[in-house]
Amino acid sequence: MIFKLLKLRLTQLRWNRAHVYITGRRQAELDAAVNEIREAGGKATGVRVDSIRLGELDALYAQIKEEQGRFDVLFANAGGGSMLHLGSITEEHFDDTFNRNVKGVLFTVQKVLPLLTEGASVILACSTAGSAGTAAFSVYSASKAAVRAFARSWILD
Ligand SMILES: NC(=O)c1ccc[n+]([C@@H]2O[C@H](COP(=O)([O-])OP(=O)(O)OC[C@H]3O[C@@H](n4cnc5c(N)ncnc54)[C@H](OP(=O)(O)O)[C@@H]3O)[C@@H](O)[C@H]2O)c1
Repeated sequence: MIFKLLKLRLTQLRWNRAHVYITGRRQAELDAAVNEIREAGGKATGVRVDSIRLGELDALYAQIKEEQGRFDVLFANAGGGSMLHLGSITEEHFDDTFNRNVKGVLFTVQKVLPLLTEGASVILACSTAGSAGTAAFSVYSASKAAVRAFARSWILD
């Protein structure tokens, strides 16, 4: 959903000559997204990456370094979560949510640092859930609060 809004905005900006790398785990979805961007006049490459697998992030950034040599804007969008009330939260639910929303974001950002140009932008997908209570969404909310904490500290690093 967020990607569709981003694509609309990029199209409005006439892509600004950017080459967009899109990542995700589903090849069919990646192919469809790349085709949409190309049909709109943009330049795009889809790379199958699970952002919680650090070796796959290394391979992604090595490919971008080889092909582009630089990185101007990172949108760490990958994330999400499901709903469980306190009392029924499982270890799998916790690990899946924190891996995707916290571990994945941390290493997606940390590993791109050597490629960032002067004045580059790093955008983190957070959520109002990170600062407001939502029933059955405590683990997701805590993970997004962690992302807010990352942003506050990383600007000091
Ligand atoms: N929708 C909302 O109302 C809302 C509100 C606030 C914040 N957000 C946040 O905005 C971001 C996007 O949300 P959305 O609503 O657009 O969700 P979405 O449609 O489910 O998109 C999530 C994207 O993240 C990718 N992804 C998930 N886990 C991944 C992983 N381990 N490695 C690589 N890619 C992964 C998914 O691709 P694959 O499944 O192919 O990997 C998918 O393209 C999330 O961080 C979400 O928490 C959403």
